[in-house]
Amino acid sequence: MKLFIVTLSSIILFASCTASSDRITEGQDAKMKARIDSLIRLMSLDEKIGQLNLPAAGDIITGEASSSGVAQKIREGRVGGLFNVKSVSKIKEMQRIAVEESRLKIPLLFGMDVIHGYETVFPIPLALACTWDTAAIERSARIAAIEASADGICWTFSPMVDLCRDPRWGRIAEGSGEDPFLCSKIAEAMVRGYQGNDLSKDNTLMSCVKHFALYGASEAGRDYNTVDMSHIRMYNEYFPPYKAAVEAGAGSVMASFNEIDGVPATANKWLLSDVLRGQWKFDGFIVSDYTGISEMIDHGIGDLKTVAARALDAGLDMDMVSEGFAGTLQQSLSEETVTQAQIELACRRILEAKFKLGLFDDPYKYCKEERAKSEIYTDEHRSFARKTAAESFVLLKNNNDLLPLKKQGRIALIGPLADSRENMFGTWSVSANLQRGESLLEAMRKAAGDKATIVYAKGSNLIDDAEYEKNATMFGRAIKRDERSEQAIIDEAVRIVGNSDIVVAALGESSEMSGESSSRSNIEIPETQQKLLRAIVRTGKPVVLVLFAGRPLSLVWESENVPAILNVWFGGSEAASAISDVLFGEVNPCGKLAVSFPRNVGQIPVYYNHKNTGRPLNGNSFQKFRSNYLDVSNEPLYPFGYGLSYTKFTYGEIELNADTISADYELIASVAVTNTGSIAGKEVVQLYIRDLVGSITRPVKELKGFRKIFLQAGETQTVSFKIDRSLLEFYNSDLKLVCEDGEFELMIGSDSRSVKSARFVLTDSNR
Ligand code: BGC
Repeated sequence: MKLFIVTLSSIILFASCTASSDRITEGQDAKMKARIDSLIRLMSLDEKIGQLNLPAAGDIITGEASSSGVAQKIREGRVGGLFNVKSVSKIKEMQRIAVEESRLKIPLLFGMDVIHGYETVFPIPLALACTWDTAAIERSARIAAIEASADGICWTFSPMVDLCRDPRWGRIAEGSGEDPFLCSKIAEAMVRGYQGNDLSKDNTLMSCVKHFALYGASEAGRDYNTVDMSHIRMYNEYFPPYKAAVEAGAGSVMASFNEIDGVPATANKWLLSDVLRGQWKFDGFIVSDYTGISEMIDHGIGDLKTVAARALDAGLDMDMVSEGFAGTLQQSLSEETVTQAQIELACRRILEAKFKLGLFDDPYKYCKEERAKSEIYTDEHRSFARKTAAESFVLLKNNNDLLPLKKQGRIALIGPLADSRENMFGTWSVSANLQRGESLLEAMRKAAGDKATIVYAKGSNLIDDAEYEKNATMFGRAIKRDERSEQAIIDEAVRIVGNSDIVVAALGESSEMSGESSSRSNIEIPETQQKLLRAIVRTGKPVVLVLFAGRPLSLVWESENVPAILNVWFGGSEAASAISDVLFGEVNPCGKLAVSFPRNVGQIPVYYNHKNTGRPLNGNSFQKFRSNYLDVSNEPLYPFGYGLSYTKFTYGEIELNADTISADYELIASVAVTNTGSIAGKEVVQLYIRDLVGSITRPVKELKGFRKIFLQAGETQTVSFKIDRSLLEFYNSDLKLVCEDGEFELMIGSDSRSVKSARFVLTDSNR
């Protein structure tokens, strides 16, 4: 025992030479390996398996933590980390048990779902994507890392990079939309933001890319459902964001719940070992999703012992909550279905993460109370969140420049979401203080001051069916129900509207109508709110619809009958002031859709980068024996990339510096963009490319570049894009990354539909 203590202290001392980022230098790598080798030599089999265990922490109460069940497991070396424990005091107490009371004193990892901010909450990820501002997104992740790390956390289960083209799926809110290129750029930015350039610093977090893979393609948009997809589509469309995040240095990856080629991702060796580690060279650790291992019993591929062994064999390192590794690996080892080497390799990967985070150096490095007091929810963070939220809103319609509102007269603010603080944050705001935010009513009254009167009526319940409403307002997001009849509630609102000059209708989804386990088969505004909206519109007063949503909603009636629609998603802790900023014109809206808005559920999936088919529709009217519908157009209601501004932007013709691109020659495509309106504004200039002839069929267009610019009224800026061969590559039928000679169409515009176009040719692509 004495000998052991001496050896261990040298390990801990040595480990003070911490890593500089997820990718550490060769010298550090060699030292890390040597030290982890010596630690592993000291570990019993139980302790090695213990590192692979990420149990549910339960409701740890400060002061009582040391007597909890999980504390006993920590003492016995049966826990590698804990997650979703909030506050320095609780985390410190659990860490103390690990490093003072367990035999080998190995520190714990503390993870959390820090998805779009910590206490300063940013817009939901889908909204953040609509800023098309990767620098701002990176900064939002940086701020989240500063706040979470100040509160004891060192590992975040983010970014979620699941590409999604099905708005029925509630988790579309957590990703960056439908496009591989945009999702990839955002994935990289978020990893950079969380991890910074030095993972061992006390204000960075290790990121965990999730959910690997294809979780966003669950059948019928029903959460946790089966996925079935061709490998060509995986490689060209769904894999790129995960790969980008891995290449940006993400320290960990979370396996998804769904199956791929008939094998759940959690035990899918091809996915975890061949693709992720083999082809992409990922060298961090892989954690299951919550009970991902034990759920494979229900998937029907074996009992707990079988599925846990399969997961380890596939390359999974850490078991979140199932206790499948902890409970069965000993026996599987004795039955020779897993090897000692496999257990050790997984254990090594977890220890490496702890080493890179500097936890061996100082296990309490993320537990500094003074940081928790001064670095969370600061004015600086909040003002950045407010600005970012305002830039995430998408102005879908603005007839006759109804917006911005003037601060004058009587403004009726109507709707079940107008006066709810708790519903401003959006899904996955586990660390937020929901009462601290403002409601839209509070923010608008503050902004209007004594210049305008804001009158309010709820106008309807969120959903008429009380049971449905209860399921849609969980986790402290309840909206007080009005027990009067539907008509009586509407009538009261209509009376108030009658005495007003203009109406702002705050309608749509509650926070919890999107996110995990919140799929919908009907993606319209709930019916009782539609009745309210129709009644308000019938009054003849001008109506602005402020639409809360965690997914694209189907808005056909609204788009035809309501003069102005501002889609505000869920904007986070500063959402209310941000909405008010845009409504009153303090901020000119500039969000652009990261996902198409379908006309109805039957069109799903509808996405801009689809294939042409052998029978494409020419024009917009129905044609027999062409690919179209009898009862709805092929076009989405609002296309990918779309969003209006309070000013107008005009695009000139595309200029190319050459009409051929070759191994030695890059192409420059330029376009002059002019702000032809009367106020300054931001525009996202978008570049799309179509490969006109390929060895496999190619999409009708693919986003390949974008630039967000700021133009004063009357100002013109020439925006140039460099087109090199990397933008023309794709995976062919052998799943080889190639680019092929031939003609391409290049398009630049303000959204995926409104583009100018030019053509160029690629030659000698095989050089
Ligand atoms: C979700 C993950 C999340 C995990 C831990 C799961 O249910 O799918 O996204 O990170 O829980 O909270």
